[in-house]
Formats: sequence, C-alpha cells, structure tokens
Amino acid sequence: MSFLELNVQRRKSQPSGSLKAAFKNLNNPATMVPFLFKVPREKDEQSKEAESNTSPKVSPPVSDIEIDELEGIGPATKEKLNNAGILTVTDLAVKSPSEVAEAIGSDLARAVELCGKARIKLVELHYLDDDFVPASEIYKKRKAIERISTGSKNLDDLLAGGIESQAVTEFYGEFGSGKTQICHTLCVMVQQPKEQGGLSGTVVYIDTENTFRPERIVGIAQARGYDPDPVLNGIIVAKAYNSSHQELILGELGARVREFRVRLVIVDSAVAHYRAEFLGRGTLSERQQRLNKFMHALVRTAEIYNLAVVATNQVQSSPDTFFGDPTKATGGHVVAHTSTYRVYVRKTGKNRVARMVDSPYHPEREALFVLDEKGIDDPPEESSSRRRVT
Ligand SMILES: Nc1ncnc2c1ncn2[C@@H]1O[C@H](COP(=O)(O)OP(=O)(O)OP(=O)(O)O)[C@@H](O)[C@H]1O
Ligand SMILES: [Mg+2]
Repeated sequence: MSFLELNVQRRKSQPSGSLKAAFKNLNNPATMVPFLFKVPREKDEQSKEAESNTSPKVSPPVSDIEIDELEGIGPATKEKLNNAGILTVTDLAVKSPSEVAEAIGSDLARAVELCGKARIKLVELHYLDDDFVPASEIYKKRKAIERISTGSKNLDDLLAGGIESQAVTEFYGEFGSGKTQICHTLCVMVQQPKEQGGLSGTVVYIDTENTFRPERIVGIAQARGYDPDPVLNGIIVAKAYNSSHQELILGELGARVREFRVRLVIVDSAVAHYRAEFLGRGTLSERQQRLNKFMHALVRTAEIYNLAVVATNQVQSSPDTFFGDPTKATGGHVVAHTSTYRVYVRKTGKNRVARMVDSPYHPEREALFVLDEKGIDDPPEESSSRRRVT
C-alpha cells in the first residue's frame, strides 16, 4: 500500500472533527512513524550493511533526560506531555508555552514556568547558553559551529563554509531558480563524513509541494561517487498536506531527531501552504501569526537539537510584482526576521546566482553556481571569473 493510500485510509478511519483532533491519537510514536515520516526505501540487509560504512557515527549532543526528572512534573502532567509528543526536557524546551499550556490543559503561567525550568536544566547541563555570557564565550562556541557543504564551493564560500548548524538558512527565489535542487544536494552532502563536507548525519525533509524526488537523490549520489542506497535510507521524508499538518510534523520532530540522529531539517517550502490557505486581506493577520509561530519553532529546533535548518521560500509573483519589488520573498517580515541567514537565488542564462541578504555577519555579495547531474555545482572554469559579483 502506498504512503498516500495509507494516509487516506487512516483519515477515513478518523472520527469527524478538526484536523487536530484527527491527529490526536497519532501521538504514539509507533503509529506516527509511517504516518508523518516516510523513509524512502525499506532497509534490506545488504543496504544496512552498506549503511554502516557511511551512516552517522556521531550522536548530536542532545539531552534525552525524561521530563519527570524536572521538579514539579508529576505522573499526570508527564502523561499529558507524553501524549503531546513531549518526552524529554529538550522536547519541552523547544515548545512554546502556549503549546505546553494546551498539552497539559493549564494556564499560560504554569506552562511558562515549565518551559523555563526545562531551559534552566539544559543550561545547567551546558546544552544551552546561560542568559548572560561574555562575548569571548560566544566566540568560542561559534567556532564550534558545524557546517554542511552545499556541494558548490562558490556557494559554500558565500555562506562562509556551508550551511550552519543551530541556525535557519532560508533560500528564496522564483520558480526554477534551484531551491529544491539545493535541498536535494544537501540531503546527500549532510550524510558524508566531515572531511567530505558533511556531518555524518541524517536529514528530515518536510515536503510541502510534493517535489521531493528519490530518483534525483540517486542521480546526485551516483554523480558524486556515493552509493545511493545508504543515502536514501538516511533521508526521512515527511509530506505535509496543509499548514496544520506541517506544524504537527515539526512538533513531532524530537523523537525522530534522537532515533535517526538528524543533523539537518529541510522545509521545502516553508510558506507555500500558508499562502495557499490564507487568501485575502482579512486572513493576513492569522496567517502571519501562524507563520510566525512556525518560523520560531524552526529556530528553536535548530538551536536546541543542535542541527541545521534549511527553509525555502518563493518571491512575490504577479499581480503584486507589478507594483512591488519582484525580488521580495513571500512571508513578509515574519520570515525575514526569523531566518538567521537569507540567500536570494535567481537565474542568469544557464547559471544561477545566489546573493547573501540580511546576514548578521556575512558581507552582501553574490556567487555563481549551476544545476547539473551533481545537483548543484560550480560553473565550468570559463565562467567562474564571475564568481563574486557584488
Ligand atoms: N538532473 C538535472 N540536471 C540539471 N538540471 C536539473 C536537473 N533536474 C532539475 N534541473 C533543473 O532544476 C530546475 C528546477 O529547479 P528547482 O526545482 O530547484 O526550482 P525551485 O527553485 O525549487 O522552483 P519552485 O519555486 O517552483 O519550487 C529546472 O528548471 C532544471 O533546469
Ligand atoms: Mg521547489
């Protein structure tokens, strides 16, 4: 039975009611895996063996202390939190107080207190920074930030070495500019060992536009000289059917991060469902609120689970472009202000240009790359003189 059929069957068997209610009994991780996350291929013995050669060997430093080890969480609260997919102190710290309040049926003050306790615990255990730290400490920590190669040296240079862990990197641009190709290439690169530009980790791909293609992954892996079987097994695909489902998937990510040693989360695209579902001025404020919550959850996910997040976004299209800036990303200030790094990608003839926009420390400049059998790649020698166009 296909993944889609499985979903349709599950939905039919759900009692009627809101989408949220329909998803409620899926909190049991055992039932959730096939529903929310789809691993492209079943593992057979041979691929498992192959995987052991290239698959992750290093666990990310994520705390897995159970929530009832926090003072003030009794068995009843623990059960409610667990039912909402919050199993560990890290899961609790990553949630917003309003989500926690909803999970345990309490007022906001109690939820704020619990989230605060989780954060303090992680600070005590040195998983998170203290509230006040000398800049020298931050500098030392930033030197330890890990990077994933994009597969293009030019683009890596633009990003000062690649996609950073503990940050949200947004790629925005018009259709066909190469955003999805960048995401596919990163799926292959993140699984490689550090010396080859990866983090020896797996990836969760939240696909909102139905554009994830395992055959493209196979092509990219082969063109780069990697065995495609273990690479496919290292990609966990979560197809998001609407914005609520997309939020739900992100909310359930914690267990997957621990189970699969995830080092990269891709959301392709972050904004598409919100744009499609909330039409007209009257819905703008709700759309921005929901998007704001989603983007902040992405930032917390990156920081607390110590992984890299890549989100794609489109540029505004007609009729807006007629009056506005055609190179403006959708999602407005919400997305602009929450992404740590923003990269604008555009076509130029056969090549693509990436421009670093709005980074707290990268200079605003451009880099040239191409789309080919390796996914994304540096352009052939003759055009690389245009590598840095400012
Ligand atoms: N195997 C391949 N070899 C070379 N180029 C390819 C290959 N597969 C796809 N492409 C290129 O990738 C382009 C599509 O890029 P991509 O899907 O990343 O766009 P996008 O920015 O995600 O667009 P959208 O906003 O519609 O999602 C195609 O126009 C094609 O030129
Ligand atoms: Mg795309």
